[in-house]
Amino acid sequence: MTTQEFLGKKEFTIHTQTVSESCPSNIALIKYWGKYENQIPANPSISYTLNHCKTNTSMEFIADETFSVQTFLSGNEEVKFAEKIEKYFKNIEPYLPWILKGKYIIRTENTFPHSSGIASSASGFGAIAKCLMKLDEIFTGEITEEHSLKKASFLARLGSGSACRSLYNGLVVWGTSDEVAGSSDLYAVKYPDSEIHEIFRDFNDWVLLIHEGQKSVSSTVGHGLMKTNPYAERRFQEARENFVPMKEILKSGDLHQFIKLVEHEALTLHAMMMMSDPAFILMKTGTLEVINKIWDFRKETGLPLFFTLDAGANVHLLFPSDNSKEKITTFIERELLLHTQKNGVVKDIMKF
Ligand code: PMV
Repeated sequence: MTTQEFLGKKEFTIHTQTVSESCPSNIALIKYWGKYENQIPANPSISYTLNHCKTNTSMEFIADETFSVQTFLSGNEEVKFAEKIEKYFKNIEPYLPWILKGKYIIRTENTFPHSSGIASSASGFGAIAKCLMKLDEIFTGEITEEHSLKKASFLARLGSGSACRSLYNGLVVWGTSDEVAGSSDLYAVKYPDSEIHEIFRDFNDWVLLIHEGQKSVSSTVGHGLMKTNPYAERRFQEARENFVPMKEILKSGDLHQFIKLVEHEALTLHAMMMMSDPAFILMKTGTLEVINKIWDFRKETGLPLFFTLDAGANVHLLFPSDNSKEKITTFIERELLLHTQKNGVVKDIMKF
């Protein structure tokens, strides 16, 4: 599909209406880092959609009022966020021609701590895009579930790139890859469940909150710095290539190769940050201590505990829900929790 096919229908009837939607966050295994104009990713990415970390959003649309947006996060008014949403709504008007014909009151809350570094922009924009598509269905009378979901993913992408992957559960691909049928730079697609070994269909993600608080460099700035990074092209190519083994691994259930690939992707993301100009480092001492302890633990026990990292210091601990789970969680509680700032850990699961 092309951008043209997402343009909005001209006939619509608006009225005052409140809708509510919920959307989870996601964690990438092959990372998106670097983009072109209009939120086009420089390489394809694949992520797990989380089960518990979600944003719940209610959107009140007051028809025929002057366009404005008011936002509340957990009951507190957020003026900066409202400004961001106003800009976003203006940007997506070609796709939803009724969007600027009213006033919005948006109330949103996350089921996970705001300071956790878990991608609230992914779940947040995902939930907003779903609310918008619900309003669109009501105002245009057009309901085709598949198109609606695809368009919600398309719209979420224009808010925050990785948000487009949160619209589907399980494993989700965004960005054109020769390895994934139907994949697109414009929206995310669900990776077929039938191509995923059962070991990967009940997985844990425990997020160790190594550092709670503002990141020193935002992901917007980070993506931008890939434009001048001398290693960027090689990195984009490597991410594309990594889809070949990833596809094999997902099918065969080769946990050993999965661990190797996922950790390599996480470290490459942070290596790119260090090779940027200006360079920046988002990992903290605790991040490195945890990584080393995970490697020692694997060497000693052979158990499948491994990590991935977002654009931040927190460590996503990944492990399957098989008979190794108890030993792994005991190790986490005893040995890894002490590296967090305030004993913070968010326990999520990817089960589908
Ligand atoms: O969607 P953004 O602009 O917040 O970028 C997300 C980038 C990473 O989380 C580091 C990787 C990814 O693919 O989610």
